[in-house]
Amino acid sequence: MKTCGAPSFRHPIVLWGPFQCEVWHLFGPIFVGAARYLYKISLFLYTAYMRISLTGIKPTGILHIGNYFGAIQPALKLAETYDARYFIADYHALNSVKDDKELWSNTMAVAAGWLASGLDPNKVIFYRQSSIPETFELTTILMAFTGKGLLNRAHAYKAVVQANLEKNSDPDAGVNMGLFTYPVLMAADILLFDSDVVPVGQDQSQHVEMAADIAQAVNFNYRKELLKVPQALVQEHVAVIPGLDGQKMSKSYGNTIPLFSSEKQLHKLIMRIVTNSQGVDEPKDPDSSQIYQMYTLFADVEEQAVLAARYRTGGMGWGEAKEELFRVVNRTLTPLRNRFEEIMADTKKLETILAEGAEKARVIARETVRRIRDAIGIR
Ligand code: ADP
Ligand code: TRP
Repeated sequence: MKTCGAPSFRHPIVLWGPFQCEVWHLFGPIFVGAARYLYKISLFLYTAYMRISLTGIKPTGILHIGNYFGAIQPALKLAETYDARYFIADYHALNSVKDDKELWSNTMAVAAGWLASGLDPNKVIFYRQSSIPETFELTTILMAFTGKGLLNRAHAYKAVVQANLEKNSDPDAGVNMGLFTYPVLMAADILLFDSDVVPVGQDQSQHVEMAADIAQAVNFNYRKELLKVPQALVQEHVAVIPGLDGQKMSKSYGNTIPLFSSEKQLHKLIMRIVTNSQGVDEPKDPDSSQIYQMYTLFADVEEQAVLAARYRTGGMGWGEAKEELFRVVNRTLTPLRNRFEEIMADTKKLETILAEGAEKARVIARETVRRIRDAIGIR
């Protein structure tokens, strides 16, 4: 019997008598072709029907626990059911970070922070905004469809003008054009990738609405759905994580617990959490205690019940409550911190991950810009 380079699997038809090779030569290519075709169809259906989630993370400072629970965790959860594209918005950060070393190290640390928190670059397209030149071409195109009046109404710009007016300064003091046109660059980030949903904090929802307005202006002009109209996904149920002083944890208030603080620094910060003056023996109300609220983010249900009971009984001072909080926070953050340090020790590898993500992103970006150039008459 003739031997042939047929498949290694032992299918009964393939093994059937002297016709083995003939059968394989006849049906083999058809079989392989059909399998390839099916694979392509399923890939097409997957990409056509998976909704797209996109968000940008501005590298303006180091990540804190509020960012983790308010932005990172919900976005990673969303990536389980959406086709996710997450990026580091370094050109947005340039508006406020004018030190080259700081911008670079923030970019690396924020990217490493997302990877350490569980972002899988094989599942999520993860890249730097600055690696996608199509973003800036699309920004120029969108500028022609954005009324100045729309940008005058942007909260971030208005807040600076208001602060200037209150100080009797020039209304536009300290306003650069990057801040004024911020929503157009953000619209380009979003529209370039045909995003369906944009998970953001409440403060950013106006920017996503502006991106939707700009997309509609373009679509209206060319009488077709050239750009997908995006929707903000504001995680209403995500709690606002309090900072060391009780108000919202934010780098602008200097009250944060950095996500990757060393064990020693973490302990020191937790000991600094502001409490009331209730004595050790007094029963305490867990629900109004900031320490207990933070504890619930890190402890399991059983631990929460035990600690709540101890609060209500009395006999536990704030110092002990803080030690208990430190124990569970450190337990959760230690593996994250270790992963973060490992990633930061090899920034070359990190840059490769981001460059690979940018390659994938640019395949989509080039196609969108080609489509739009063609539609607007720039051929
Ligand atoms: P910051 O207030 O420290 O400057 P950002 O404005 O850069 O933080 O926020 C980045 C993301 O983290 C946003 O989606 C925001 O909603 C979320 N976030 C920031 N602080 C908190 C917090 N204290 N609780 C919940 N989410 C937060
Ligand atoms: N403006 C966002 C922030 O300050 C960051 C950002 C830039 C973004 N481009 C985006 C968020 C596109 C969502 C989509 O947090």
